[in-house]
Amino acid sequence: MLVLESGVGNYIQAEGHQYSCFAGNNYLGLANHPEIVEAAIRGIRKYGINFSASRQTTGTSEIHLELEQQLAKFKQQEDAVVFASGYLGNKILLHILKGEYDTLFADQSAHSSILDGLPNDKTRVCFYTHCDCKNLEYQINKSKSIKPLVITDGIFALTGEIAPLDEIYRVVENKNGLLIVDDAHSTGVLGENGRGTPEYFGLGGAPRIYQSETMSKAIGVYGGFISGSKELTKRIREKSPAFGASTSLPPPLVSGAIAAIRIIMEHPELRTSMFLNAGRIREGIKSLGYQSSSSATPIIPILFENQADAIKLSDFLKAHFILAPFVSYPVKTDQFIVRITASAAHTEEQIDELLAVLGKWKKDSVNQ
Ligand SMILES: Cc1ncc(COP(=O)(O)O)c(C=O)c1O
Repeated sequence: MLVLESGVGNYIQAEGHQYSCFAGNNYLGLANHPEIVEAAIRGIRKYGINFSASRQTTGTSEIHLELEQQLAKFKQQEDAVVFASGYLGNKILLHILKGEYDTLFADQSAHSSILDGLPNDKTRVCFYTHCDCKNLEYQINKSKSIKPLVITDGIFALTGEIAPLDEIYRVVENKNGLLIVDDAHSTGVLGENGRGTPEYFGLGGAPRIYQSETMSKAIGVYGGFISGSKELTKRIREKSPAFGASTSLPPPLVSGAIAAIRIIMEHPELRTSMFLNAGRIREGIKSLGYQSSSSATPIIPILFENQADAIKLSDFLKAHFILAPFVSYPVKTDQFIVRITASAAHTEEQIDELLAVLGKWKKDSVNQ
């Protein structure tokens, strides 16, 4: 594990060196944004580090309510509810919806936070072939489910693929079902206003969709949230043990997130820069002869058929002071991936350098 000696920005200080950072999920470059840092410091000054109680008891503050209103505005929903981490969001939704489906259908490459939230009764769980709506429909028909619940990542964390939510939703609607989308990597990224995968597919506000979202990636801060009707957020506040029995989100994170959401709403050009940078990297990588995915997201995998080559490339980049990790978690996959992520904050110079080093590796490996 790499031990960081600085915060996360375009460059990272680690193990006595400075690295150009193409790792992590700092898609909009907000992880160290000065206005967000200042807001977080103001939050600490006024409220300290910790409200030291759950939201239910004495842990709800005026800034939690402000953040929830801000998120509802960002998502154009009636309300939103924030909680300790994005990881908990799937668990919370699966718990809240447990009486509303007979069988659950999960993408076979679903993130571990989805797998962790699945019901104990495995007879109620089926897996469908990754991003394959025909197989999803087949599985639903085979199970004779009359009230299916489908759950998928919006953008898949390792490969950057976008789930075919329009087709999935068609199946869900036909089968009178429900759909949960884990939009951890899509919030602030996909859709005209950054509202995630449903907005990207023109499904914003669709009645059967529930989104689980995080503030730890494009938003640059930390903490999970779910937005929707007041009826939904009331149920979460009243019925979810993960919400009710955990300490509320700490003050600096809450005040930092309020600033971050404002920045995201006021600066759509951040998304434009992120996509331009991602496009340049993706095109560059492909023209060098690497295998990648073609989804237009800031996650740009370099795909290998064997683990040793993927590790060698990641090490080679590191030896040239560029960070792009070999990743083998937290998703079941038979691919070996060096995961490159683009940020709105990357400079042309950084991207040129990344592509030059990738070009050198390609040339060296051809000559070996
Ligand atoms: C698809 C997906 N869902 C959920 C999470 C958990 O979010 P968080 O780290 O903000 O708790 C992550 C990553 O960390 C993720 O990649």
